[in-house]
Amino acid sequence: MTQTKLVFDPFSREFFDGPYDIYARMRDEAPVYYSEEYDFYALSRYADVAPAYRNFATYSSARGLDLDTVRKGEISSYKTIIVLDPPEHRHMRRLVSKVFTPRAINDLRDMVDAQIVRFLEQVDPSGFDMVHDFSAHFPMEIISEMLGVPPENRTQLRLWTDASLHREVGQIEMTQAGLDAVVDVMRFYYGLVKERRAHPQDDMITKLTQAEIERDDDQPPKLTTMEIAMFASLLGGAGAETVAKLIGGAPVTFARFPDQWARLREDRSLIPDAVEELLRFESPNQYNVRYSMRDVELHGVTIPAGKPVFLLLGSANRDPAAFDEPDVFDIERDRSGAQSLAFGSGIHSCLGAALARMESAVALGHMLEFMPEFDVDFDNCTRVSMQNVAGYDHVPVRVRPRPQ
Ligand code: HEM
Repeated sequence: MTQTKLVFDPFSREFFDGPYDIYARMRDEAPVYYSEEYDFYALSRYADVAPAYRNFATYSSARGLDLDTVRKGEISSYKTIIVLDPPEHRHMRRLVSKVFTPRAINDLRDMVDAQIVRFLEQVDPSGFDMVHDFSAHFPMEIISEMLGVPPENRTQLRLWTDASLHREVGQIEMTQAGLDAVVDVMRFYYGLVKERRAHPQDDMITKLTQAEIERDDDQPPKLTTMEIAMFASLLGGAGAETVAKLIGGAPVTFARFPDQWARLREDRSLIPDAVEELLRFESPNQYNVRYSMRDVELHGVTIPAGKPVFLLLGSANRDPAAFDEPDVFDIERDRSGAQSLAFGSGIHSCLGAALARMESAVALGHMLEFMPEFDVDFDNCTRVSMQNVAGYDHVPVRVRPRPQ
């Protein structure tokens, strides 16, 4: 059988609709893939992706994390943690880690629970959209509560964030609507930070206005209004979109592997394992782009210095060389071997991982109560087309009536 030419296009319908067949071919045929169309390289094997995430000296984040910005090399002088290399990254991470300690996250459990219940209670079990009616809402509410965003602004912030991540097929640059949305988000947070400086409250933005950061230059140690606004806006994107996709897509995966839902119903202590397996199986963040700082020789290919390199963690998490039967969703899989890369690895590994795990576990617990048995209308599920975030935007679900 003749194979078609291997094309990996992260802005194509095939990619948005599920890239796993393409990933399998990349791992086999072109572990260092080169895109002639877009002039980037891509790593797809676990054994290459995992160390690349940790090797910030070779694969830099400082040019941005999406193809468009990395290619142009035009990153604004205002940078937030995720696009900093050391030593600036180290200083910023040390500072913001203080507001994300395991204890601080654990203290949020009641608030998280209340937000999740609030949205699930409004859902009509005889027919609802898992994403639209539920998972799109609570993560933004939770991060907004933490930051101190007033309730009346939260929906608008979520819609702006969606607009900035959205990409049409073939479109690698942000649309004008996306750019406008970024400006709107920044303007909003800038105003909120100024307001909190004038009137401190018990919230994360106020804490960040009071914190001091170590700097290598002779800048003042306090974070600037812009630095805090950038960080807040990153949390809205990184923290809300991803959890929304993880939980929104969960019914689809469980409906494809119904024995796994039954197993979870029987044994709730497996919920944390189910969260880990969902993260591995349908990683909400499929990739991050880096910028090569030097020539790299790998599998007979030279990645020249100065090129965008896709680190395809979504492919690494399905690599049979790292995970037994990777295309099987198994919440009880032995996880003592390769660690899932769903939260990245190395210095930029997800700051919000503990929060994301807790939110997702609480959500799954309530879903088991609310929808012990359910059907997914597969024909009407649709997936987002976004830069690096993957998952569903519509998942119609019907809860099966309980036997009388
Ligand atoms: C299922 C949910 C989530 C997934 C799959 C996810 C995934 C990731 C990944 C892969 C990275 C590494 C990016 C890179 O190396 O370039 C990252 C970084 C980050 N994430 Fe998450 N994330 C999730 C939830 C959250 C939440 C809830 C928050 C905060 C509220 C958050 C905040 C961040 C931040 C601030 C960074 C940058 C850390 C740094 O540069 O040092 N994420 N995340």
